[in-house]
Amino acid sequence: MEEQAEELRELMKNDTQDKKPAPADKNAHKTRIIAITSGKGGVGKTNISVNMAIAYAQLGKKVILIDGDLGMANVNVLLNVVPTYNLMHVINKKKTMKEIILDTEFGIKFIAGANGFSKIANLSVQELDDFAKQFSSLGTADIIIIDTGAGIANNVLQFVAAADEVYVVTTPEPTAITDAYGIIKIITTEVIDHPVTLKLLVNRVHSADEGKRISERIITIVGQFLGYKVDYIGFVYDDPVVQASVIRQKPFIVVNPTSKPAVCIKHIIGRIEKTEPAENEGVSNFLKKFLGKKK
Ligand SMILES: Nc1ncnc2c1ncn2[C@@H]1O[C@H](COP(=O)(O)OP(=O)(O)OP(=O)(O)O)[C@@H](O)[C@H]1O
Ligand SMILES: [Mg+2]
Repeated sequence: MEEQAEELRELMKNDTQDKKPAPADKNAHKTRIIAITSGKGGVGKTNISVNMAIAYAQLGKKVILIDGDLGMANVNVLLNVVPTYNLMHVINKKKTMKEIILDTEFGIKFIAGANGFSKIANLSVQELDDFAKQFSSLGTADIIIIDTGAGIANNVLQFVAAADEVYVVTTPEPTAITDAYGIIKIITTEVIDHPVTLKLLVNRVHSADEGKRISERIITIVGQFLGYKVDYIGFVYDDPVVQASVIRQKPFIVVNPTSKPAVCIKHIIGRIEKTEPAENEGVSNFLKKFLGKKK
C-alpha cells in the first residue's frame, strides 16, 4: 500500500514536471478498472454491474463495486445494503477508505459514491495527496467495477475518463442505440485524450442474433464517423428474472444462477478474462486521470 502511494506521488510529480512516468513494474499487482456507462438511462447498467461483480467474486477474485451513480444510490437497493458513509467522507477526511468499504453477503465489497466530486478541483495538494493515499489502498483488489449514471454529467464522465475499460450498455430500443452512439462520440471526442478500451454490451435482447446485429450497427457507425474501434463484449437476454430479482433485492446471479441473464453475464466475464487488460491500468493511473480531470 505504501508502495502504491509512493508510485502515485511519483506519477503526480512527473505530471507537473511534464515528464513521462517511469514504466510500471510488469510483475506488480494491477487492478483492472471497468466503468459501466450508457447514453440512455434505465438500460440495465446497475443490474449488469452488480451481477458482473458477483460473477467475478465467484471466480475467486477480489472485487470492489463502486456506485458512481451519485445521488441515485441504485446499487444499495439491488444489494439491499445501507451505507452510512461514502467517498465524500474520505475526501473530507472524516473517514478512511477502509472505514467506508462495506462487505456484502455476496462476496464483493461495495463503496458508495458521493455527490460533489467537483470539490476535488478545489483541494489543496496536501488534501489531494491524502485522498490519493486513501484511494490507493484499493489497489489490493483484482477488479474494480464502477456503475456510473447515464449520460454526460460531469461526475459520470470523470469516472469514464479515468477507467481503463469503458463498457457502454444499450438495449435494442432505437433511442438507446442513438444515445449509445451519442455517449461514445462524447467519450471519444471530448472526454479522453488517451486510448481507452471501449466495449459494447447489448442488454434486453431476444436472441443472440439481435445482440450481434445491433452491436454491428453501432460499431460500424462509430468506426465510420469517429474513426474509433469499439468491440462487442456480449449480450444479456431480456428476462423477467431481472425485474423479479430487483424486487427481491437479491441479484439474479445468486438466486437464479442458471437463468438466461446469469449465463450471459458469466459468458461476458469469461470473454473479459480472455482479453488483455489495458496497458496503463491500475489504481494509481486511475487516480492520476481522475484527479487530473477538473472540468
Ligand atoms: N435483461 C433484462 N431483462 C429484463 N428486464 C431488465 C433487464 N435489464 C434491466 N431490466 C429492467 O430495467 C430496469 C432498470 O435496470 P437498471 O436499474 O439496471 O438500469 P440502469 O441503466 O442502471 O438505470 P439508471 O440509468 O436509472 O441508473 C430493471 O429494474 C429491470 O426492471
Ligand atoms: Mg443505475
